[in-house]
Amino acid sequence: MTVFHLRAAGVSLVLDTRGTASVLHWGPDLGDIDLSAPAFVPAVPPSSIDVPLRLSLLPSLAEGWSGRPAIENGHGFRTAEAHHQDQTLVVRSASPDATQEVVTELELTPQGVLRVRHRLTNRGDHEIVLPSLDVLLPIPAEASELLDFTGLWSHERSPQRAPLRHGIWSRESRHGRPGHDDAFLMVAGEPGFGFRRGRVWAVHLAWSGDKRIWAERSALGPSVLGAGELLAPGEIRLAPGGSYETPWLVAVFSGSGLDGLSDRLHPWIRATSPLSLPRPVVLNTWEAVYFHHDLTVLGQLADAAAEVGVERFVLDDGWFTGRRDDRRALGDWSVDDTVWPDGLHPLISRVHARGMEFGLWVEPEMISPDSRLARDHPDWILDGGAGPTWRWQRTLDLTRAYDHLLERLSALLSEYPIAFLKWDHNRDLLTPGVAHRQTRALYRLLAALKDAFPHVEIESCASGGARIDLGILPLVDRFWTSDTNDPLDRQSIQRWTGILVPPEYLGGHLGDGVAHVTGRTSALGFRLATALFGSAGIEWNLTRASPQEKADIAAWIAEHKRLRPLLHSGRVVRADSPDPAHLVHGVIAPDRAHAVFALVTLGTPAAALPPPIRFPGLDPDRSYTVRPIGVPPRTMQDAPPPWLAAGEVTLPGRFLSEVGLPAPLLTPEQALLLELA
Ligand code: DGJ
Repeated sequence: MTVFHLRAAGVSLVLDTRGTASVLHWGPDLGDIDLSAPAFVPAVPPSSIDVPLRLSLLPSLAEGWSGRPAIENGHGFRTAEAHHQDQTLVVRSASPDATQEVVTELELTPQGVLRVRHRLTNRGDHEIVLPSLDVLLPIPAEASELLDFTGLWSHERSPQRAPLRHGIWSRESRHGRPGHDDAFLMVAGEPGFGFRRGRVWAVHLAWSGDKRIWAERSALGPSVLGAGELLAPGEIRLAPGGSYETPWLVAVFSGSGLDGLSDRLHPWIRATSPLSLPRPVVLNTWEAVYFHHDLTVLGQLADAAAEVGVERFVLDDGWFTGRRDDRRALGDWSVDDTVWPDGLHPLISRVHARGMEFGLWVEPEMISPDSRLARDHPDWILDGGAGPTWRWQRTLDLTRAYDHLLERLSALLSEYPIAFLKWDHNRDLLTPGVAHRQTRALYRLLAALKDAFPHVEIESCASGGARIDLGILPLVDRFWTSDTNDPLDRQSIQRWTGILVPPEYLGGHLGDGVAHVTGRTSALGFRLATALFGSAGIEWNLTRASPQEKADIAAWIAEHKRLRPLLHSGRVVRADSPDPAHLVHGVIAPDRAHAVFALVTLGTPAAALPPPIRFPGLDPDRSYTVRPIGVPPRTMQDAPPPWLAAGEVTLPGRFLSEVGLPAPLLTPEQALLLELA
């Protein structure tokens, strides 16, 4: 047994496997050091265990850790074996009576992302009921400020900060999906950390079911971040020989604030769950027609979409048998022949004739009590249909309905040339003890469809963005970020979701002038600038747009197509702004020769002269010409800054990052797009 030291991209992981395996350091690169010195061994305080406290990979009471353990009621595990395969460490531990074996994998990716998971196997003769199995990692004492997220429908990933005091800050998801209030990331950092400053340590659990994620500072001294599946009593029963594997804990350290987390996560996600590029510009019919499906109207919408340059036309909810509103028909996955007497063929032919791909909305995990499926298979409904409905629907027991769903979806994908499924999930489960098997069955179903129809892309949608996580990501190609297309709300939702998820995976749509969810009126330029950066689309009845609006939209799509190779491969940066009403974010090409930035005003600036526009992340020694693009924002100023009046300015990257350019005086809810080359 030895001390292992993994290093990658400025991160070190030190794992001591002498005695009981223990992570001694996860954080900045330590360089090439001799790790045999007892540098990590603490003193023994009074009124404590009589040996130095050492947190194992599976911390427990038995080793003196009175914080939350890795296994509730677990005993001390002893390390039996450890080995090294490239950048992965594999550690085998056993319970004192040898009836439980845990194999832990720790992988440090080339981008410096650490992934950890455990697999527990029952090596005894009796069934084991597993109460919990979590992954914990130590963080240093200076990481004393927390950031995590909460939210509600159409307001996902709302940030919340708090000091980490003695005790646990623990977030739980019991929705059977991550939920609108999903903690998403648990970030602990130096007080005052921002996008560009401060050391931060963050964890995310790659899992789409129930989970808990926490930070704990113990009066014993150590602090930890932890996460695992939230198991209901009796949910995991292991027969002799049976195993349970935790989801991956994804852990990221950054020495330079939250942007440093994205600098590791985005390249890693792009390398391990690659998308087919370029991402097509989408038109989704939901806010254009809702349930009013009519071939003539949808045909005209398809024509209008093609005219402005849309590449994928997605028919949302309302196409299947009996689905005239949200109160019925989920489960009856055949095309409604009263609305579509010739099936979807005439619409798809028209979409194809206009050079677009066709996509379709489905919600396979759900069932309406008023549906043929519910009448034929009442025993497939979770809970036997007890408890309240939610959006008038119930959840299918996927372990029972699995074959049926695979057959129905396969039939649709075989009959119709469908390039894309928007896969929705519009309610919480509200049935204790099923989230694990439902989530596993969902993953199996998605994998089976991907196998059988590899060309079909899938979008993960859950009443907007209630299922955005790295567990489902390898099985999908897009996330629906939120049901709100209001650009003011979207600025914040996209900014925070984008810490973890690269922009090209996040759907962002241009909505109506009066946002359907909030009723707020927004300028077209602000809406366009907000939807530019991600997987762009439109969710608006274009047949009602004015010729000028259509011309602006067509120009925007052309600009998006020109810029998307940069937007969807570059480095995402966000400036720390001294004025919360003034945001700057951008994307910089990997060679730093080209960038697009947005100056966004959420409200009235705090001073007559707002802070200068600083452009983080540029090459300090390169010269950039900065020029405005897109629809000019509304301003209120007697004179614009001269550089903007001149139409462009050329300055060194160092100046643009450190000093910045005087900002024009944008009125609230406006955006100025700037291209740097
Ligand atoms: C919720 C989704 O988030 C919306 O985009 C839309 O697809 C509706 N469901 C359809 O019922």
